[in-house]
Amino acid sequence: MRVLLLSDIHSNLEALEACLAAAPAYDLAVNLGDIVGYGASPNEVIERSAKLGKFFVRGNHDKAVCGLIDIRDFNPVAALASSWTRDQLTRENLEWLRSLPQGPVQIDGLPDVEFVHGSPVDEDEYLVTAGDAVTPLMVAPTMVTFFGHTHLQGSFTLNGDRVDSIHPTYGTVGQIESREFPLKTSLRYLVNPGSVGQPRDGDWRAGFAVFDSEARIVAFYRVPYNLKGAQDRILAADLPQRLATRLAAGR
Ligand SMILES: [Fe+2]
Repeated sequence: MRVLLLSDIHSNLEALEACLAAAPAYDLAVNLGDIVGYGASPNEVIERSAKLGKFFVRGNHDKAVCGLIDIRDFNPVAALASSWTRDQLTRENLEWLRSLPQGPVQIDGLPDVEFVHGSPVDEDEYLVTAGDAVTPLMVAPTMVTFFGHTHLQGSFTLNGDRVDSIHPTYGTVGQIESREFPLKTSLRYLVNPGSVGQPRDGDWRAGFAVFDSEARIVAFYRVPYNLKGAQDRILAADLPQRLATRLAAGR
């Protein structure tokens, strides 16, 4: 089965459309959360995401926008974007967001794989360093866990008592590119497809991945998108300017 992995779209419709246009054929799509927050197209991104299938995990921004957590825990820019998003959403889309399941989520036909927003231990935990990944890799019930939340594309591998981390490197800064990462059946993995709508690894291009469960290969992708279109919408919505400028820097 070929699984399209999308995470942290953050209301960036231009980035989502570019990823879907660049993605190879797939059997099902899994969305790892933070569908909304930061960007200026929350209704459009929810409606486009909902059409891709039924497999979702909620993110912290999804929870904040629909009132499941207190936005006072957010930094001021995130909180402002969160309350702006809540005001924009149709009642139907707000209800849809509220109904998203908490991770981990498993899918019939995909044995030994699970999907979370932050970590298998805590849906809101950030797995940034190899040290962060040790316990989650040990306690995850499946050999492979796909996660998001950090907006950093890459993988952690438990190899004996050591955790190796990889972040794919690319040859250009403006082309569509992909990198294949084969998974060994004997090792445990945490894999982050990267953020569609707000990458934070210094590469402005939208990130996603495709997992081939038979071949056990993750293909990471980076895709240029209509950056100016996304920025112009953020500025036109009177959202903080920083939310537009950071997209160009990929930070
Ligand atoms: Fe996020």
